[in-house]
Amino acid sequence: MSTLRLEELKQYSDTLRTRHGEALNVRFVEPRDTEELQHYFRSLSTRSRYNRFFGAISELPEGLLHDFLQIGDRERFTIVATMMVDGFETIVAEARYALHPEAATLEFGLSVHDRWQGHGIATALMKNLECRAAALGAEHIFGETLRSNETMVSLARKSGFTFVNHPDDWKLVRFDKEIQVASKDIPCASWRLAALSRQAERPSASA
Ligand SMILES: CC(C)(COP(=O)(O)OP(=O)(O)OC[C@H]1O[C@@H](n2cnc3c(N)ncnc32)[C@H](O)[C@@H]1OP(=O)(O)O)[C@@H](O)C(=O)NCCC(=O)NCCS
Repeated sequence: MSTLRLEELKQYSDTLRTRHGEALNVRFVEPRDTEELQHYFRSLSTRSRYNRFFGAISELPEGLLHDFLQIGDRERFTIVATMMVDGFETIVAEARYALHPEAATLEFGLSVHDRWQGHGIATALMKNLECRAAALGAEHIFGETLRSNETMVSLARKSGFTFVNHPDDWKLVRFDKEIQVASKDIPCASWRLAALSRQAERPSASA
């Protein structure tokens, strides 16, 4: 389903805005981010890490760190949102998503650093993820959160997701949204282009 040219990752960067208009660069994670990404997770609050990974961890275990850095492997992708802070490109949020081609769904999880929460960053990132889902041909986008995570539940509701019980774990809830946007109408320029080129390569995909 996905035919992105991963050797040209840089063309899939997006500039988003926080609620106050600050620029956020959203791009695929790169090997050079390894230390900074681990630093990001270590410096999240215990509560944010718990909510992100549904359990107590102090940093990304080595295997998971390795997985986070593999872009496109088994249709899984990691993106980071960065801002210039004191002259340094700093990771302020991350998201990981997986395309499930057989179900035409895109699953995601995300976090925003505590220092930057409440600035509309997750709202903007989730809209961007919807663009990515549409570009990859997904018909639904979904995520999972702890029922107790009121912030994520409220954010998902405001972003137009609906809730269903998790099939295996009563502590979790799944939020889901149908993607109903034609390739030419995808509201993120780079993802609109990706979708149109995918459609041109595989005309049957648009049928
Ligand atoms: C959940 C999370 C991603 C939200 O990120 P964020 O960038 O702060 O969210 P936004 O600023 O876009 O806020 C969007 C909405 O979330 C809700 N929200 C934000 N902060 C809230 C809080 N402290 N309490 C309740 N609701 C809150 C509000 O509905 C808000 O909309 P509003 O500002 O119009 O009222 C962030 O808190 C986080 O990273 N938490 C830890 C990891 C996590 O929980 N991940 C989700 C599971 S995968």
